[in-house]
Amino acid sequence: MAVDTSTRKSAAPAPAPGKTARRRSSVALKLFMAVTGLLLVAFLYVHMIGNLKIFFGAETFDHYAHWLRTIGTPLLPEAWYLYIQRAVLTVAVVGHIVAATILARRARLARPVKYAHRPKVQGSYAARTMRWGGVIVLLFVIYHILDLTTLTLNPHGVSGEVYRNVAEDFAPGRWYVTLFYTLSIVAVGFHLRHGLWSAVRTFGLQSPRGELYARATALVLSLVLVVGYLSVPFAVLVGLVD
Ligand code: HEM
Repeated sequence: MAVDTSTRKSAAPAPAPGKTARRRSSVALKLFMAVTGLLLVAFLYVHMIGNLKIFFGAETFDHYAHWLRTIGTPLLPEAWYLYIQRAVLTVAVVGHIVAATILARRARLARPVKYAHRPKVQGSYAARTMRWGGVIVLLFVIYHILDLTTLTLNPHGVSGEVYRNVAEDFAPGRWYVTLFYTLSIVAVGFHLRHGLWSAVRTFGLQSPRGELYARATALVLSLVLVVGYLSVPFAVLVGLVD
C-alpha cells in the first residue's frame, strides 16, 4: 500500500493560533521598544552635544538656548517645536515603559515552574538592573525638568539665563546635586548599554564576532554619553565653568 509521506511530515502539531499571535505581538513590542529607545538615544546625544556649548561661554550658551525656542519659525509659532518635541518624547517614554512592562509580565507568565529560590542567572540580573535603572532615570528626568526647565528647584532660576542656572546649580556647595546627577547619568549609561545590546541581540545577531562588536559599540556609545554629560557639572565643580 502506498504511503503518503507528505501527510506524515505535516503530522507534527502546529503551534496553537493564540501562541503564534502572541509571539508576533511580542516581536512587535520589542520592535516598538527598539524604535522608541533609539529616538530617546538620539535626543540624549543631541542634548549632550548642546550642553557642551557651555564651554564656549555664557553668551554662546544662552544664545543656543534661545535658538532652541526659535526652531521651526516662522513656519511654526515660537517654541512650538519644543512643545512638539516634548509631546513626542513623552509618548516615547510612556510607550517604552508600557511595552517593557507587558513583555516582562509575559516572560514571567511563560516560566513553567516557579522556583522557591530563584537561581541567580545573568538574565534576571540584567532585567532587574534595567527595571531599577529605568525607575532612577524616570525620577531623574522629573527632578531635572523641575530644576532646569521650569526652574522651580533651581537656586538661580532666571528664565533665559541658562548658563547661570547651570553654574549655580552645580556650585561646589551643592555637591549633593552633582552627586545625584552623577548617579543618575551613570544609571542612564547602564540602561543604554544593556538596551542597545539587547536590541541588537533580539534583531538577528548571529555570530560570536558580531556579538563582540555589538557589546563594544554599546559600551563606547554609553561611555561617550556619560562622560559628555558629566563633564558639565564637574567643570563647574572644579571652577572651569563659573
Ligand atoms: C549634567 C547633565 C545635564 C545638563 C547640564 C542638562 C541641562 C539642561 C538644561 C540647561 C535644560 C533646559 C534647556 C532650556 O530650557 O533651554 C535641560 C532640559 C532637559 N533635559 Fe537636560 N541636562 C543634562 C542631562 C540630561 C539627561 C541625562 C537627560 C535625560 C535622561 C536630560 C533630559 C532633559 C529634558 C527632557 C529636558 C527638557 C527639554 C525641554 O524643555 O523640552 N538632561 N537640560
